[in-house]
Amino acid sequence: MSRDDIFDDSRPRGSDFTFNAEVAAVFDNMIARSVPFYQEQQRMIVEVVKRYWRPGTDVYDLGCATGTTLINLGHALEGPGRLVGYDNSEAMLQQARGAVATEGLANRVELRHGDLDQHPEELALDGAGAVLLCWTLQFVRPLQREALIRRVHDSLADGGVLVVTEKVLSNARALDRDFIDFYYAFKARSGYTKTEIHKKREALENVLVPYRIDENKKMFRRNGFGAVDSFFQWFNFVGFLCVK
Ligand SMILES: C[S@@+](CC[C@H](N)C(=O)[O-])C[C@H]1O[C@@H](n2cnc3c(N)ncnc32)[C@H](O)[C@@H]1O
Repeated sequence: MSRDDIFDDSRPRGSDFTFNAEVAAVFDNMIARSVPFYQEQQRMIVEVVKRYWRPGTDVYDLGCATGTTLINLGHALEGPGRLVGYDNSEAMLQQARGAVATEGLANRVELRHGDLDQHPEELALDGAGAVLLCWTLQFVRPLQREALIRRVHDSLADGGVLVVTEKVLSNARALDRDFIDFYYAFKARSGYTKTEIHKKREALENVLVPYRIDENKKMFRRNGFGAVDSFFQWFNFVGFLCVK
């Protein structure tokens, strides 16, 4: 796995963050060093999907990136059902295609190019038994988030599940600064320099837009989900479970 040095000290200040070929090539290293308890959260996502998914229904991973979650599910879910990944970055999909083939899952996993910002109310999610938005909703334009969550809800089978893992803001505004400091300390422990942390923060400004924990929960409920709760929290990172 190539090491992420995209924001290292020797490079000039860049523009807005995008999931381009340079990022795709180091993405697995980047996310493991940028999301606290990434592997444990991946394990929990599989555990949750295993509980709510019914054989014969399909699983959709929106913002599937390099295919990590789809691959984990492909090895864990027994019984019929397609695993469909959407992403709007061709470079990420290319990495995912390679990884899925290496894992021998090409006939179970389908990778589609799709933009969640474009007409989310028409996104094809037929036969959905589980839908995942893992560190992706935060990149969807706020104006489109309601329509996307409504589409997911309306497409899911009764008893189906939406799993959302996100970077969030605290419900208590006074704690936001401290949570962010704890997060930067985690990134420093992951081997990023102060300059790398600062440059990445600047590049993500206006690209990654986190909601407050309660704002997210209210949005899931407002768009139809009856049972909504969080199943994971590490300072400003939360996993939400929404059952239809
Ligand atoms: C942080 S990564 C997701 C990580 C992945 N879900 C995982 O579990 O490792 C965010 C992904 O969402 C994709 N993405 C961002 N905005 C998108 C949009 N509007 N439509 C589709 N995909 C999008 C990016 O290309 C990227 O692959």
